[in-house]
Amino acid sequence: MRPNAPERAVRSKHAHAAWRLLRGAWHVGAAVLGSGPLRAATLALVLAGAAAAAEPAPLKIGIIGAGHIGGTLARLWVQAEHPVLLSSRHPGELKPLADSLGPLARVGSPLEAARFGDVVLISVPYKALPEIGSSLKDSLAGRIVLDTCNPYPERDGPMADAARAEGTGAASARFLPGVRLVRAFNAIGYRDLAKLAHRPPPLVAIPLAGDDAAALRVAEGLVRDAGFEPVIVGGLARAREFDFGTYPYTHVLTAPELRAALKLN
Ligand SMILES: NC(=O)c1ccc[n+]([C@@H]2O[C@H](COP(=O)([O-])OP(=O)(O)OC[C@H]3O[C@@H](n4cnc5c(N)ncnc54)[C@H](OP(=O)(O)O)[C@@H]3O)[C@@H](O)[C@H]2O)c1
Repeated sequence: MRPNAPERAVRSKHAHAAWRLLRGAWHVGAAVLGSGPLRAATLALVLAGAAAAAEPAPLKIGIIGAGHIGGTLARLWVQAEHPVLLSSRHPGELKPLADSLGPLARVGSPLEAARFGDVVLISVPYKALPEIGSSLKDSLAGRIVLDTCNPYPERDGPMADAARAEGTGAASARFLPGVRLVRAFNAIGYRDLAKLAHRPPPLVAIPLAGDDAAALRVAEGLVRDAGFEPVIVGGLARAREFDFGTYPYTHVLTAPELRAALKLN
């Protein structure tokens, strides 16, 4: 079966890595082997790598809610050469941000972001999720959605207490029916997100939870592109292990530290 765009992009990232390796091999081969059959074999390998790398790597990312978290991720993903469409209820206010990000960034409505994205990031106050899930249901259906949203009763009202009790994996899945949901980037503060991206190793870990294995792979790639190390915690039911009030929540951890804290293998 032909992989869809997000999955092709993940494979393409691997292809780029393979291409870099093979290019190195070609230079070594050319220097060491001179001419002859070994050099021809090396060239054949290089050409195979080039063919594998020919598919485009960028993913189109629709961003619904381009505030502290959504705006920071937009910048990090544009730096990784992904086109982004920034949206909110007042998209005009996002124009200066989009302009500062350059030609890979543009502004639109939440509907346009949902339609644009191979992947859609939703990063709004938690109380907005039910309305977004219902009004954009058709456009979001079947799409990979990264959900950063955390319920805060003081901001979101009583629905936040219910979501905390239920766990955000289950609650968000209810509010966003039909999407390939991954909980992501909810457990890191926006200042750390901006400051610690691409820090020297060890990278900061970002916990992920989702029920769709292919969507998780795509999310892992986007976490790496943003300059962090993904750690898959498990299915959506396990998202509660990095919800508000848990040890990993807003605690800067490396991947081994996060795995140890959550007793992951
Ligand atoms: N701040 C953090 O450090 C942090 C860390 C991890 C997770 N989170 C969670 O991630 C989410 C976003 O946090 P944030 O700090 O980035 O919030 P923020 O700075 O207040 O940004 C929220 C964005 O959502 C937009 N928005 C609000 N209601 C909307 C709706 N109904 N439809 C479309 N867009 C809407 C807002 O723009 P308009 O008002 O113009 O529509 C704004 O662009 C929250 O759930 C938060 O709890 C935050």
